[in-house]
Amino acid sequence: MRSLIRDLLASSEPRSSVEAAGWVRTRRDSKAFSFLELNDGSCLGNLQVIADQGIAGYERIHEMTTGASVTVAGELVPSQGGGQQWELRASSLRLLGTAPEDFPLQKKGHSMEFLRSISHLRPRTNLFGAMFRIRSRMGHAVHRFFGERGFHLVHTPIITASDCEGAGEMFRVTTHDPAVARPQSPADDFFGRSTHLTVSGQLEGETFACALGNIYTFGPTFRAENSHTSRHAAEFWMIEPEMAFCDLEGDMDLAEEMVKYLVVEALERQDGDLGIFEKFVDKGLRKRLELVAGESFERLTYSEAIEILGKSGERFEYPVEWGHNLQSEHERWLTEKHFGRPVTIHGYPRAIKPFYMRLNDDGRTVAAMDLLVPGIGEIVGGSQREERLDQLTANLREEGLPLDEYAWYLDTRRFGSVPHAGFGMGFERLLMLVTGMGNIRDVIPFARTPGHCGF
Ligand code: 4AD
Ligand code: MG
Repeated sequence: MRSLIRDLLASSEPRSSVEAAGWVRTRRDSKAFSFLELNDGSCLGNLQVIADQGIAGYERIHEMTTGASVTVAGELVPSQGGGQQWELRASSLRLLGTAPEDFPLQKKGHSMEFLRSISHLRPRTNLFGAMFRIRSRMGHAVHRFFGERGFHLVHTPIITASDCEGAGEMFRVTTHDPAVARPQSPADDFFGRSTHLTVSGQLEGETFACALGNIYTFGPTFRAENSHTSRHAAEFWMIEPEMAFCDLEGDMDLAEEMVKYLVVEALERQDGDLGIFEKFVDKGLRKRLELVAGESFERLTYSEAIEILGKSGERFEYPVEWGHNLQSEHERWLTEKHFGRPVTIHGYPRAIKPFYMRLNDDGRTVAAMDLLVPGIGEIVGGSQREERLDQLTANLREEGLPLDEYAWYLDTRRFGSVPHAGFGMGFERLLMLVTGMGNIRDVIPFARTPGHCGF
């Protein structure tokens, strides 16, 4: 049976009759034998293979070029040369698939832009192999975090008829034929009503929290916002816990605990993969992650944040004024320059937040919170939810949202309403934090952003 190169490289003793498979990274020939560097995607490291002239399969050695796929059988022995502990002395080789000269990943540096244009091949590079192994690891860690704490996983729908954020930035889902000229009403569309891709699983998640207690969703979300920033994607993954019998305080505690847990995971469990980001992407990565893992987070109200920003003497592009949204430049100044650690801001003006957030006693702020981290800005957004039926109904009316469409949501407040709270963490923002990658398109296997939907 095939061994993973990861396991072979970590072997504690020599092994006879080993089989490995992978893609050739490089080949060097000398008179009587050839060296192949093989990578199978199981880890960053390559397996060095020594193939003597004359072994079975050697006759095709010249076709085993960078990018070609091969299988090898042989013996795992201590390496004679430096640089690696083990090497595979081949007894036979087999070429599976050739990679002609136009294979784009010949051994040389490529720009990130170019690599994006070959998103189907870039996971075969060291950097993106590491990236997507880390993505996988972090995905497992998210489930483990909630599993350890007794949260139930809920699969909320991807296609939905309600707009969670009330912002209208939704992709329509229809089977209507755009080539048909006559007006087509939602009533004769596939679902008999107008439907969209979800912007958040929160509303459905709330109904389950109001039954199962503590739940979370972890799935793709879609936003048709025309943001051309390095932190926004049209399709991204969000982790959304929701807790019954919980207030904003408990919500902020969980968000902070989760950020720390996942950063510790990245620091401790990524083997060689994290090192490549520190070396080639972000020299200060480990230091920043250690800071996030080790320091307690700052907590302050939106009003306090506005005051600090106002007194900063900093020249911001966007004005700092109570009632306005904090811009990314403000958030980053607070977390990177002023506090020098992660910051949770809470108590935002009611007017700039969605209808579902709980109104504070002052009547002008809501129990909302955003968690900001150095290098990224907002990574988590959440709130305690408005559990009072009258207030929630008033909020929906005020925003001009159709009450009948939200009748099912209002039922959670009509029948045994409880205080509850939750948040959403952008999975890609988390990955940007733990790898130092500066563009969201480089932490998603196949990125979707305005004007871009290849593959
Ligand atoms: O702050 P947001 O919009 O909050 C919600 O959607 C709530 N319904 C979540 C909840 O309370 N259950 O989004 C939450 C997080 C943001 O903090 C950010 O990390 C990420 O989702 N996010 C995006 N990530 C990538 N691309 C985008 N366009 C994103 N929009 C939000
Ligand atoms: Mg937000």
